[in-house]
Amino acid sequence: MLIRSMRAEDLDFAAGCTAAENWQSETRQELETLFINSPQTCLIAESSGDPLGICMGTPVGSGAFIGELIVKPAARGRHLGRRLLEECVDRLRALGAHDIYLDGVPKAVPLYLRAGFAKVCPSHRFHGTPSTPSTADGRIAITQTRDLIEIARLDNRHFGADRNFFLERRLALYPDLSLMLREKGVITAFLSSRPCGDDQLHVGPIIAETPDLARALLEHLAALHPGKGFVVGVLECNPSALALTHELGLTPVDTPPWRMRLGEMENPGAGPGCFAVGSPAKG
Ligand SMILES: CC(C)(COP(=O)(O)OP(=O)(O)OC[C@H]1O[C@@H](n2cnc3c(N)ncnc32)[C@H](O)[C@@H]1OP(=O)(O)O)[C@@H](O)C(=O)NCCC(=O)NCCS
Repeated sequence: MLIRSMRAEDLDFAAGCTAAENWQSETRQELETLFINSPQTCLIAESSGDPLGICMGTPVGSGAFIGELIVKPAARGRHLGRRLLEECVDRLRALGAHDIYLDGVPKAVPLYLRAGFAKVCPSHRFHGTPSTPSTADGRIAITQTRDLIEIARLDNRHFGADRNFFLERRLALYPDLSLMLREKGVITAFLSSRPCGDDQLHVGPIIAETPDLARALLEHLAALHPGKGFVVGVLECNPSALALTHELGLTPVDTPPWRMRLGEMENPGAGPGCFAVGSPAKG
């Protein structure tokens, strides 16, 4: 059994793994984004040339996120998952990541605890179709490329690390699904989303100076896409983000994953201006 760096031609296998798990938002395009950003920390486990599993690491600032850890069902229980995780941690550390974060589904939590990760807080997933207001909000517009520098500054201040690559790529891939809110000439909130299956949007990140602004963006997105279901990831450490999703009528899944960390530092995205996670694999 060999663990090696992913290659572009492995992306179909990787997308097959996420599809088999029914992780609808983790499309081939999303995986490709992670791969282009950091190919040396995206891994394949293989035996005699047959791919058996994947794991994708993403350096973010002085830390990193790990996501997409999947082993094909027939190969599970033989420590491939553990080896993929350990190799990913080693490679991220070699690139300078001090602290490493991930969202662990309850079944996988023991695997992560054994690797030294500790639980931080539940990382909730809310689902539902928000109610749509009838009035337009003139402060909100679809994000344009020229807005990205200002948005990146706002994101960096609240998220706590540079994720400009992902913001730019999201806008390039889904130009109609990013919104920004401008008050007195200054961008004070933005939201980015992506398709999740045929009838849902995975909404996040949402960064806003106040909960009201985050709410205005979510309602505006709902008005632009009537009837679309929303999937929104919210860390329990942000009570106003939790309250907002409840107010909009979204429902949490019963047994959410755990945000976990290897290291001491609070993870990027835990601040009060972060109203939705971008994706568990990259914060
Ligand atoms: C998680 C996963 C990658 C582990 O792969 P693996 O090669 O079986 O892992 P290992 O043999 O190194 O370790 C087994 C551990 O995986 C975890 N695990 C077992 N079944 C699992 C499942 N269906 N889903 C998630 N984790 C599981 C348990 O912690 C198990 O430890 P235990 O045997 O002491 O209970 C694999 O089960 C999988 O692909 N699950 C589906 C996708 C998933 O949930 N990924 C994790 C997302 S956070």
